[in-house]
Order: sequence, then structure tokens, then C-alpha cells
Amino acid sequence: MRKAFLPFSPPLIGEAEIAEVADTLRSDWITTGPKVKRFESEFAQAVGAPSALAVSSCTAALEVALAALKISPGDSVITTAMTFCSTVHAIERSGATPVLVDIEPDTLNLDPARVRDTIGELTRQSHSRRVRAIIPVHLYGHPCDMDAFFDIASAHDCAIIEDAAHALPAVYKGRTIGSMADTAPVSTLTCFSFYATKNMTTAEGGMLTGASELIDDARIWALHGMSRDAWKRYSSEGSWGYDVVCPGFKCNMTDIQAALGLHQLQRLSAFHQRRSEIARRYTEAFGVFDEFTTPVERSWAGHAWHLYVLRLNLHELATTRDQFITELQRRKIGTSVHFIPVHLLSYYRDKYRYSPDDFPTANREFQRIVSLPCYPRMSDEDVADVIQAVTEVVHANRRRKQVAVQASAACT
Ligand SMILES: Cc1ncc(COP(=O)(O)O)c(C=O)c1O
Repeated sequence: MRKAFLPFSPPLIGEAEIAEVADTLRSDWITTGPKVKRFESEFAQAVGAPSALAVSSCTAALEVALAALKISPGDSVITTAMTFCSTVHAIERSGATPVLVDIEPDTLNLDPARVRDTIGELTRQSHSRRVRAIIPVHLYGHPCDMDAFFDIASAHDCAIIEDAAHALPAVYKGRTIGSMADTAPVSTLTCFSFYATKNMTTAEGGMLTGASELIDDARIWALHGMSRDAWKRYSSEGSWGYDVVCPGFKCNMTDIQAALGLHQLQRLSAFHQRRSEIARRYTEAFGVFDEFTTPVERSWAGHAWHLYVLRLNLHELATTRDQFITELQRRKIGTSVHFIPVHLLSYYRDKYRYSPDDFPTANREFQRIVSLPCYPRMSDEDVADVIQAVTEVVHANRRRKQVAVQASAACT
């Protein structure tokens, strides 16, 4: 067994990031300034986006996206039951009503067929609020079926906001996630996360990408609703005047964060290669067990492998998901669960009177998912330790073996 605990997902920060942060701290400009501008432009280029706005988190990107699209009380926004709470919090705080929809049984992504049914039903109800946007979440880094969502959004005249917190770099039918705003038939904005565990990090941080006019509006929403940012007001060419045109948020990114982001972005492709390699080794090792379902990767998908989520075939196992996690922890392997479906969280459960089976696929899959460590800092030995620990736990908990043992005991 390992000596040291293997943490679930620590960041990988190099000397170049540290030097760039120090350089920023020694400069006269530590908040939103030249490094943020450079980071926005290099990020937009990396994902093929027309324009990018750096913000303080993906949550902020979602909030600003909803505001820029003028989504407000009286509107509805559709999203998945299987996501982190902040996707739905952003809708809730905009004043619009979140409408949760169940997931596909294989990718666990928002199910377009169910979205089509739900939006059709809401449109038929004459008293219903208007659906203004759909938020597909590229769960774990596997892209959603975007063409299906674009079709639905075009038919119902609503926008698409991609929650791409996990999807850097992910590819849908040859198109990088973040690059579709120019070709999409409806307004499309994409929200990325640079939280510490994500595929690249600025400690906390996020990016909103989309068409230039929408990003220009979002930029105003992200900084108090002011018509000119501080860099424009306080730099040598700037002047002090500004107007306030809306009750904006305060969620701009700082140059300290951008200093980290500039170097992390350069390493993203190497990080992604390592994540993909670890995922491949896991699938090779776990795919042979009847007790597991390994992650799917559709033929058209380029997976970002933010999370490697193993599913336990509970009917084949004499254990629960929670006991499985405890046994891995005992073997010094950190794991997690992504996510507790939103309709099971007390705020949403109570406010919208949800019961667990309102979203049966999300509810069922939640009970059998385990996220395994998968990050570039892992050594080959770390990966082998995870494989060994999971293999030991499954061997110790096989139902078939137990049935065989019981049967042979009954015969003696
Ligand atoms: C699917 C999803 N959306 C949004 C977020 C929010 O990201 P942030 O922490 O950058 O606000 C997360 C965070 O983990 C997430 O997993």
C-alpha cells in the first residue's frame, strides 16, 4: 500500500508562473491591466473564440452571460440536473426560473431529446414563462451534442450558454469548445473555469467567450456597469470620466491571476496529453471488469478529461459507492463524487418540490459514480497505485465470487 495519501486533484504550478506572479507584484499594476488583456487575447486564440472576457470565476462568467443576454425575472432557463450547484445558482440569481432536465445515460450530459420535450411542453402551456436560454454543461470534459441543442434553440428562439468549466480543451465534431459563437445559428456564449482543480488554473478565475458585441456588453456587466475600466481611466492615455449604464457585478480578473493563466495556457496541451494518457490507462485496467462501467467517448468527441468518473455496476458488487470510497481512502487514494444532482440539494428540492425520481437517470447514476484522481502531477507510480487499489477493492467485493463461495458452502 502507498505510504502517502494521494490527493484528489492538486494544481501543477511551475517556476514560470511563480516568476510571472512576482513580476506582477513588483509592477505598479496588480488588478485588471495589461496581463489580463494579453491573457484574454491568447485564450481567445487558443480556443478559436471571436472575443474573450476574463472574470473572477466560471460562476461569474455564467452570471455575466445571463445578464448580457438580458435574462431576467419572468424568463426560464433550461439546464441539467447533473451539474455543480453554481450553474443553477446563476440562473436563480438572475431572477429567471431554472428548469432542470434529466441526462443521457451514457455521457451523463444534458439529454437533447428530453430538452426538446420539455421546451415543447412549456411552450404549449399558455401561462408558462418564456424559455430564453439553454445551458448545456460539458460534464467531466465530454462535449454535449451541440448540433442538437443549436437546432432546439433555433426552433424556440433562445440562446445557448455553454458551461465549459470542465471542457478545456474539448472538441465537438472538429470544433473546439469556445469556438462556435461565430457559426452558431443563435447567440452563444461559453463559460470556462480556472479554479484550482481545473485543467488549467489561476487559483480562482474564469473566462467568458463569444461574439464581440456580446462580450463588450458582458465586460460592462462584469465591472459595476461602468462604461470604462480602470486601465482606461488610470493609464497614461486615460481620462477620469465614466458613466454607469447598468447595476453591474464586480467580478473582473486581476493581473496576478492572469500572470498564472498566461503560463498555464502554454502548458495546457501537455497537461491535456497527460490527463488523456491516465484516462487511457484506467480504461484499459477497469474495462475488463463486469463490476464497472468506464467513461464513454462518442466518435465525434474530443474529451478534455477533466474528471475520470468510474461507474460501479452495483448489482455486481457487494458494496455501496460510499463504502467503495471509504475502502479507497483506507488505501490512501483520494476520490470524489461529481455531482450530487441539483434536485437533491435542499434549497432546490424544497423550493421546487422535487422528489429524487423527478430525474431518474441523474438520481440512479449519482448512486454509482466515483471520480478517480486524474491530473498531470500524477506519476506513473501514482496511476499504478490507483489501479491496484481499485482492483483490490473490486476483488474484495465481487458479488459473483461471493455467490460462488456461498454455493460451494451449501454443497458441503
Ligand atoms: C460544471 C461546473 N460549472 C461551474 C462551476 C463553477 O466554477 P468556478 O468555481 O470557477 O466558479 C464548476 C466548478 O467546479 C463546475 O464544476
